[in-house]
Amino acid sequence: MEPKIIKTKDEMRAWSRSIRSQGKTIGLVPTMGCLHHGHLSLITQAQKHTHHVVVSIYVNPGQFAVTEDLSTYPSDFHGDIQKLKSIGGVDVVFNPHDLYDYGDRLGIKRTTDNNNNNNNNNNRGETVSCLEGETKHETWVRVEGLEKGLCGKSRPVFFRGVATVVAKLFNIVEPDVAVFGKKDYQQWRVILRMVLDLDFAVKVIGSELTREEDGLAMSSRNVHLSPQEREQALSISRALFEAKSAAYKGEKIVGDLRQSVIESIEAAGGKIDYVEIVDQESLETVEEIKNGVVVCVAAWFGKVRLIDNMEIDVL
Ligand code: PAF
Repeated sequence: MEPKIIKTKDEMRAWSRSIRSQGKTIGLVPTMGCLHHGHLSLITQAQKHTHHVVVSIYVNPGQFAVTEDLSTYPSDFHGDIQKLKSIGGVDVVFNPHDLYDYGDRLGIKRTTDNNNNNNNNNNRGETVSCLEGETKHETWVRVEGLEKGLCGKSRPVFFRGVATVVAKLFNIVEPDVAVFGKKDYQQWRVILRMVLDLDFAVKVIGSELTREEDGLAMSSRNVHLSPQEREQALSISRALFEAKSAAYKGEKIVGDLRQSVIESIEAAGGKIDYVEIVDQESLETVEEIKNGVVVCVAAWFGKVRLIDNMEIDVL
């Protein structure tokens, strides 16, 4: 089945409303494209819970800081559609070009080439400054506590951008269910909190993290790793599995467990952004290793920043 490609908010809303008027449910999988098996497993989750599935593909400039990698964020719209066609069961690809008013004053061009469909232009500086300064958009959704720690420390505008764009997608697509990957653990928690606090009528499902056979967490960014960096990056999952097994064997001391994860990743050549052991719900640092904690890691390999995590549940 070939998904229908919808590019405007009005058409998207009209489609959703017609489906809902037939008493059918809609599942949304928000993505920034460059789909991999991790995304496909989110789609499978959505298919299990709803009659129809919408996948949004939108590289959201609002969640990139001026210094971040918007311009190099991988994009393969044509390949994405082929993948969705081959798995089947996706009704709509929502690929909006009118989600934010970028304005034309800054010379922002919208790419219509199907092979590189970043509608926000690939010039990160212009696009982001446009979003921050020149667009008519002035409303942001912030989940004030959960957005601060972990990735929020080095990416202070990230969760504001994510929560805002997801709120917009929820308002446009009006899904019954939305699926997010637990690889982006903090993002999943931020969205859950936003839905609770703002009374969105959307059930948020957290889908388990998917790994390559060798353990690397699946991510669109993996394509940027050189073969050597990819090999080094395996140290993250290795360190996390070791941490989990140490916890199961009775390690209770947060500092020791954290230090061993840091050392393993650094020994392989990674540069740590953070290694934190936090409560799964509040994302606050815990005093001892116990059920319901999660070990979260962000580390750089060359120019690529990777994140990963490991829940510790049954001790
Ligand atoms: O996880 C992502 O790909 C993005 O942060 C999301 C949720 C699609 C919002 O832009």
